[in-house]
Amino acid sequence: MNDLETEDKTTGATGPETLEERRVFLTQMALLGGALVGAGCSPEPKGSSKSPAGPPPAPITKKSHSEPSAHVKPGQLDDYYGFWSGGQSGEVRILGLPSMRELKRIPVFNRCAATGWGATDHSKELLGGRMSGDTHHVHLSYTGGTYDGRYVFVNDKASARLARINCETMEVDKVIDIPNSQGTHGIFPQRHKTGYVFCNAEFRTPHVNDGRDMTDPTKYGAMHTAVDGEEMVVKWQVLVEGNLDLCATDYQGNYSFATCYNSEGGVTLEQMMGADQDHLYVFNLKNCEKAVREGKTIKVGNSPYPVIDARGKDSPYVMRVPVPKSPHGVNVSPDGKYAMCAGKLSPTVSVVQIDKLASAFAGKIKPRDCVVAEPEVGLGPLHTAFDGRGNAYTSIFIDSVMTKWDINKAIQAYKSPDGKTPNPVIQKLDVHYQVGHTNASMSETKDADGKWLMALCKFSKDRFLNVGPLHGENDQLIDISGNEMKLVHDGPTFPEPHDAVIVAKDLIHPKKIQPRTDARFAMYSAWAKEDGVELFKDNRVIRRPDGTVRVYMTSQAPNYGMRDFKVKAGDRVQIILTNQDNVEDLSHGFCMSLHDVNFLVNSRDTNSMTFTAASPGVYWYYCPWFCHALHLEMRGRMIVEA
Ligand code: CUA
Repeated sequence: MNDLETEDKTTGATGPETLEERRVFLTQMALLGGALVGAGCSPEPKGSSKSPAGPPPAPITKKSHSEPSAHVKPGQLDDYYGFWSGGQSGEVRILGLPSMRELKRIPVFNRCAATGWGATDHSKELLGGRMSGDTHHVHLSYTGGTYDGRYVFVNDKASARLARINCETMEVDKVIDIPNSQGTHGIFPQRHKTGYVFCNAEFRTPHVNDGRDMTDPTKYGAMHTAVDGEEMVVKWQVLVEGNLDLCATDYQGNYSFATCYNSEGGVTLEQMMGADQDHLYVFNLKNCEKAVREGKTIKVGNSPYPVIDARGKDSPYVMRVPVPKSPHGVNVSPDGKYAMCAGKLSPTVSVVQIDKLASAFAGKIKPRDCVVAEPEVGLGPLHTAFDGRGNAYTSIFIDSVMTKWDINKAIQAYKSPDGKTPNPVIQKLDVHYQVGHTNASMSETKDADGKWLMALCKFSKDRFLNVGPLHGENDQLIDISGNEMKLVHDGPTFPEPHDAVIVAKDLIHPKKIQPRTDARFAMYSAWAKEDGVELFKDNRVIRRPDGTVRVYMTSQAPNYGMRDFKVKAGDRVQIILTNQDNVEDLSHGFCMSLHDVNFLVNSRDTNSMTFTAASPGVYWYYCPWFCHALHLEMRGRMIVEA
C-alpha cells in the first residue's frame, strides 16, 4: 500500500459523510478556531441582558407566492446588475442577477492582460506604479436615497486608495490616495446626493507617521476621511484614537458611521479582544464642516487637507455609542431609521435609532440610550441586509447561517425584557460555508425590494469540484420574496469578492460605444493638438523633441491604418491607437510581439501604451481581438533600425 492510498483511506474513514454531518463538523472547526485565538465569541455579550432568549422561532408557514426563478433563459436579460468587489484580485466584477452570470471584470487596482489596464499610459498614471490592490467595498453614487447610475466607488485596503468607475463606460476614471491612512477599509457615499464618500482607516498609526511614536501605540490614531465624490478630492479628515472598520451613512446627510473595534488600543490580537465593549462612532457632519470652515483643524504631515483632531472623548464631531465587543458591519435600514451594528464577537445586533442621535449629541441622553434593540441572532454576526418589509437578514459567520429577524419585534423585546414578547428571529438558513458579507436587492437604498439576498460565503469546501488547494468562494443566491428564505443557487467566484451590491437594471445605463468623456481623452486631444494630428484620421510617426516616438495609428476591421513603421533600437515608442469602427461590440487591440505590449481599443476609443524598442529587427504587431474573418491578417511590422 502506498502513502496516497493510506491518506485516502484515512480521510474517507474519519471525514463527515452526509451534508448535515459536514455542516456540523465545519461549525465545530470554526468554533475551535475561535477558541484558539482567545476569548472569542462568548455567547453572553456585555449589554445584551435585555435581549431575551425567547421561545424558539415560530414554524415557517408554507408560502403562497409564486416562486421567482433564478433561471434566466438564453437570450433573456437579468433583472439586476450585481457589483462585486474582487478582493485580492484588485478588480470589480459585474454579475447579472438572478442568473449569477459574470458579465464583466473591471480592472481597478490591478494589471489586466486582457485590456492592458495598468500598462496603458493613462491607467499607469492613475495607479502610480502600484499594480496590486485589495478591493473590499463597492458602492454606487446616490441621489435622493437611491442609486443615480453615475459612479461606482471602490476602496483599496492595501494602498489606502479610493477609485471611481464611470457607469457610462464601466471604466475607472479616477484614483486618489487617502492621506495619513493605512488599511482604508469601509467606505460609504452619502445617500441624499452624490456628496461625500467616507473612507475608514482600519489600521492605527502614529500621526505623523514619519518615525515618531512608533513604539507608543497610545499615540496611534486613525482617519475618517470625507472625499468629494464629484471632484474625487479629499475635503477633510477626522482623527480618532480607535481603528475604524465598516462605514455607513444616513439618508439625510447628517451623519456618517464607523464601527470601531479595538477600543483597547492594542496592537496584538489578544490586546484587541480584551475589552467587552467597543463602539459605533457617529460623525456629526454639520459640526465637522463648521470646524473646517472656522479653521479649527490641524495639518498632519505633508497632507494639505484639514484634520479635525477628535481623539479621546466625545465631542461635537464624534460620539461613541457603546456596543458589545468588536462590532463589524453597520447597515442602515431602508426607512432610514436604524443603524444595525453587527456584533462579530457578540451574538447580537445593536440597533441604533438614528433620530435619537441629535439628543445624544446635545447631551440630553446618553449615547447608549440610542440603542433600541439588541437581538441575539447567532454566533459571529457580521452584516445586515433588508427587504423593505421590516425584516433584517444578518450574516452569521461562525454558525454559517443567514438569520432573518423582525426589526419591530426586536425593539419590542428590548423594551419588555420579560421574555413575553415573541422572538424576533424568524428563520435561520444554512449557508455554505462561513458567510461574510450579505446584501439584498436594492437593500442599501430606500427602495429595498425584498427579492434576492446574497450570502458571500468565504469557504466553499466541498460544494464544487475539487480544483486544488485554492478553492472558489461560494456566493449563494437566496430567494427572500416569501415568508421563508430559500437557497436557489451556488455561485462559485474567484477569490475574494468581499462585498456586493444589487442594483435594479433600470438604474444603470452604460453606453455601447465609447463616449470619449473621461479624462484620458483630454490627454489624447492635447497630444494630438501639439503634434498637429487628427486622431480619427491620421496615421503618422512623430519624433518628439525629447526623443519619444509617437506612433498615431487608426484601426478599422480588418486593417490598421499603418502597415509598417520605423524606429531606432532603444527608442521610447508610444503607440496611440484610435478605433474608427462605430459598431457595437467591435473591439480591436494592439499587441507588439516580444515587447510585452498588449492593449484593448473599443469602438470609437483611443488608447496608448509606451515601450522601449528592442534590438534591430522586424517585429510584427497584430490585433489580439477577434474582429473580422480576416482578423488574423490584421497586423503590421515595426522595423527597428540600429
Ligand atoms: Cu481587429 Cu482582430
